[in-house]
Amino acid sequence: MMQCTDIHDRYLFRLITKKSILYTEMVTTGAIIHGECIEQLRFNDLVEHPVAVQLGGSDPKDLAACAKICDAMGYDEINLNVGCPSERVQKGAFGACLMKEPTLVSECIEAMQEVTTLPVTVKCRIGVDDNDDYEFLHNFTESIMNPLMQTLIVHARVAILKGLSPRQNRSVPPLKYDHVYQLKKDFPNLEIVINGGIQNINESIQHLNEVDGVMLGRSAYDNPMITSQVDELIFNASPQICDRKKILNSYLLYCLEQNDLGHSYSRTLKHVFGINKGMPHARKYRKLILDTMQQNNLQNNLEDLVSLV
Ligand SMILES: Cc1cc2nc3c(=O)[nH]c(=O)nc-3n(C[C@H](O)[C@H](O)[C@H](O)COP(=O)(O)O)c2cc1C
Repeated sequence: MMQCTDIHDRYLFRLITKKSILYTEMVTTGAIIHGECIEQLRFNDLVEHPVAVQLGGSDPKDLAACAKICDAMGYDEINLNVGCPSERVQKGAFGACLMKEPTLVSECIEAMQEVTTLPVTVKCRIGVDDNDDYEFLHNFTESIMNPLMQTLIVHARVAILKGLSPRQNRSVPPLKYDHVYQLKKDFPNLEIVINGGIQNINESIQHLNEVDGVMLGRSAYDNPMITSQVDELIFNASPQICDRKKILNSYLLYCLEQNDLGHSYSRTLKHVFGINKGMPHARKYRKLILDTMQQNNLQNNLEDLVSLV
């Protein structure tokens, strides 16, 4: 998620869940090829795995070049964005508008598969503009699938390319989970991951009766602690420490270190606004986070912040 799932946010999530796959923000092929996004591509090899990079682009050669770079960097998965409806992305002829060009998407996937053995996955919508019937999604999937492609992540809303902002495109078009469920029935060998409007782990578990995986966006970003039971309840792994105070304390110590390395508190602390969501001192806590960013001094407030969660 742009402006959200950066290296610091992913560090925070790894304190809460070890097993979930974490995704980078979308990084465009142009930015990678012109060397403009070293920071966005950087990840912490020691703690972040499994981590997927999401690429935005539509030129098979450029995507292949970027997949090669990301493979060499040590990412675990290369994901192609076929779901972003923003005007900037449409001007670049990638993102959601690619759903209308399945042959090109297929060429992009194959070009990447030729240069990497990493899983190449796609994140798409259930449709685009008037192409909102199930058949469209079925045909799109059929056209882009190949034996090496294992996973399709589907945001269960159409993208409306004209007239809705990216934000509206995440709430106005209705969620149609049944289209994603049907896709799993029709393509049983393809791993289908459902996304869109899923609020918590209980809802995720319900979806897992129908599909193979669940992707959480806003609910997890806005309230990271909802993922604290993922390892135990979804992956049957040992539970993580769910102690909010310990997690926040570790993350704040990380923020101190990062500040010394030049990463401002406004960049690192924004990710923990929601760590106390719904808890008694949430308001006071958020205000203190804001003050800390403004004062640019975490050392003074660290203990108070931890005591408020
Ligand atoms: C601030 C923000 C940035 C986003 N950036 C991306 C992105 O870079 N790539 C992407 O595939 N989806 C992006 N999305 C969409 C989410 O990944 C997700 O598909 C969408 O929000 C629906 O899922 P949710 O209801 O769980 O949030 C973004 C969403 C938000 C709110």
